[in-house]
Amino acid sequence: MSISIGIHDLSIATTEYVLPHTALAAYNGTDIGKYHVGIGQESMSVPAADEDIVTLGATAAAPIVARHGTDRIRTVVFATESSIDQAKAAGIYVHSLIGLSSATRVVELKQACYGATAALQFAIGLVRRDPAQQVLVIASDVSKYELDSPGEATQGAAAVAMLVGVDPALVRIEDPSGLFTADVMDFWRPNYRDAALVDGHESIGAYLQAVEGSWKDYQEQGGRSLDEFAAFCYHQPFTKMAYKAHRHLLNYCGYDTDKDVIAAALGQTTAYNTVIGNSYTASVYLGLAALLDQADDLTGRPIGFLSYGSGSVAEFFAGTVVAGYREHLRTEANREAIDRRKTVDHAEYRTLHEHKLPADGGDHSNPAQTTGPYRLAGISGHKRIYQKR
Ligand code: HMG
Repeated sequence: MSISIGIHDLSIATTEYVLPHTALAAYNGTDIGKYHVGIGQESMSVPAADEDIVTLGATAAAPIVARHGTDRIRTVVFATESSIDQAKAAGIYVHSLIGLSSATRVVELKQACYGATAALQFAIGLVRRDPAQQVLVIASDVSKYELDSPGEATQGAAAVAMLVGVDPALVRIEDPSGLFTADVMDFWRPNYRDAALVDGHESIGAYLQAVEGSWKDYQEQGGRSLDEFAAFCYHQPFTKMAYKAHRHLLNYCGYDTDKDVIAAALGQTTAYNTVIGNSYTASVYLGLAALLDQADDLTGRPIGFLSYGSGSVAEFFAGTVVAGYREHLRTEANREAIDRRKTVDHAEYRTLHEHKLPADGGDHSNPAQTTGPYRLAGISGHKRIYQKR
């Protein structure tokens, strides 16, 4: 009999600040309907000057270590596309900040927003080889586009930490997976740029093509049929994209694309993404957190996951919700992570958007802004300095 492996715990973190889309719309003269209805976004998380993927990742992971201890964690896989170093894995800073054992392997993984799903699947492979170990998967990203560009309204930032092991308390991840890769230039960020380059409309087409391709492969691998799923967690660069994707999948499978049916399958997965914005690698798992936190009892029900990363790679897979999962959720803490953010006005947001530590190798401190447990205090001799409160 195959062993049950999956997500044993899940914790989220987001930023100190938030910008409502009403403020962006008032500044650039956009009808708010375009943001609230057209792309399905209400607000975006904005990092403080002393927050980054490491502080967000450590904030998400610390409660998992507090609940389960460190003894069984032998691997940390940190997935991100807003990497802070070309060589050193961001997860090593997190490893130190949250006090993991030196007997740990730590790596960073990248393939745009898809990276966390690769991390989850690699974690499952490691646990299958050594069922005594747990793997800490951290997805952490800051999504940044040029000011005054069409992508600006889809920015955001968040981290999700997941503990992967045998006999999971939340979601058992199933075989098979449906896979899809295509060499497209829909969204990319060359090493010399802070903000991503994107062909917005091409990226929507590329995403839809990947939904179709990964579903087709999932079926060929002997996956479940569409009507077995209780809900679908899509990658949500903006929440309306999940609706476009599901409509596309229903059409492709020859099903009716009734609005209420789509809303029932997706509605509860969008609550966190709609107020956080695009969190790249974390996005699909924020969708899972929102679903588990809000839906009526999902015990024994299969959930479909569609993970998409520009460039592009996609994977469709299923997870089954485990009996008793509600006792292990972090619903209150998840909501608090979102509700504690302080609203910034448009001018403050622009200042934060432009903030950057100098790259001259000198000593530079960040203003103390975050009230979270970890901060990026500054940089000295090209070395980032993190502090724990
Ligand atoms: P845009 O071109 O300015 O917007 O930016 P638009 O004109 O296409 O309008 C958007 C929607 O709002 C349309 O709805 C309009 O009709 C509607 P649709 O036709 O698509 O259903 N609209 C209104 N609705 C109600 N009231 C109104 C109103 N006005 C207009 N008054 C775009 C949109 C997505 C292109 C832009 O935000 C962008 O470039 N975003 C970044 C790219 C992106 O998110 N792509 C998604 C797929 S790729 C992906 O998911 C990967 C990614 O996460 C990166 C990674 O993998 O690493 C991005």
